[in-house]
Amino acid sequence: ARLPELLAAMPKAELHIHIEGSLEPELIFALAQRNGVALPYASVAQLRSAYAFSNLQSFLDIYYAGASVLLHEQDFYDMARAYLARAASENVVHAEIFFDPQTHTARGVPIEVVIQGLHRACVDARAELGISAALILCFLRHLSEEDAFATLQQALPLRDKFIGVGLDSSELGHPPEKFARVFARCRELGLHLVAHAGEEGPPAYIWSALDVLHAERIDHGVQAQHDAALLERLARERTPLTVCPLSNLKLCVFASLAQHNLPQLLAAGLCVTVNSDDPAYFGGYINDNFTQLFAATGLGVPHAYMLARNSFEASFVDAGTKRAWQ
Ligand code: HPA
Ligand code: ZN
Repeated sequence: ARLPELLAAMPKAELHIHIEGSLEPELIFALAQRNGVALPYASVAQLRSAYAFSNLQSFLDIYYAGASVLLHEQDFYDMARAYLARAASENVVHAEIFFDPQTHTARGVPIEVVIQGLHRACVDARAELGISAALILCFLRHLSEEDAFATLQQALPLRDKFIGVGLDSSELGHPPEKFARVFARCRELGLHLVAHAGEEGPPAYIWSALDVLHAERIDHGVQAQHDAALLERLARERTPLTVCPLSNLKLCVFASLAQHNLPQLLAAGLCVTVNSDDPAYFGGYINDNFTQLFAATGLGVPHAYMLARNSFEASFVDAGTKRAWQ
């Protein structure tokens, strides 16, 4: 088969997807209308035309504005169902989905509304589409550690509905160690731990995500390229990197996909995976990420198998399921 067909058809896991980043402009407008929320854009086309980013922060400003239409449990359900249907159609058999509760609780939406809606979508998608899905609660790193602790406290009655915690939002100026104590608490609670690090931030942020937070996976991590000792460690420990090629392109982390360093990271022996990050904003779901990256960099069939296999190795599914999938 041709490479694009193989990339689309191969079973894979998606491990770096922000559910609020799967909110398509059409759904933003439909929810705005349903909920009586005023948007600063006149049309779907006008909103879409605002999707031109120069760095992470320029994206986050629009991403948080888009999430303002989410008010009721059904809104969170509809958003997650739409993503899971799309993911299943792209042969994603397992998804570990980030959500940002503070984006919603800050607007007065109770955390139960957020988590119950997302969880119900995961349960129904499993039954109706056969896709397995789990939730990872992300703390917003531009807010305080105290705010993260309060969010964790609010979420704990729903502890059985998420498998871990992560760290996202504005990276520069907000190093992982700012969240040392809340991650230590999450570790005691037996939650899985991941963190965005080395998207725009320096290799030092990856080191502290590993050594201070004890992150089991690094989200993005592409700046590890500039630190040979770090590359050696990530390869030796097989710490997964959840890389998002189209996100890196659209946020100007790399000037072109041809210059993306995923091929070098893979060649250095790291457990690299391919993911979509915020597909509604970055112009492609997971298979577009694979296809465009492979076309631009000349990766081939053996790399496709390696990346699919890595996605299962890097996932938090139980060991038996992992063996069956790999
Ligand atoms: N980086 C940091 N925060 C985010 C991202 C990202 O790529 N996507 C959504 N929130
Ligand atoms: Zn991300």
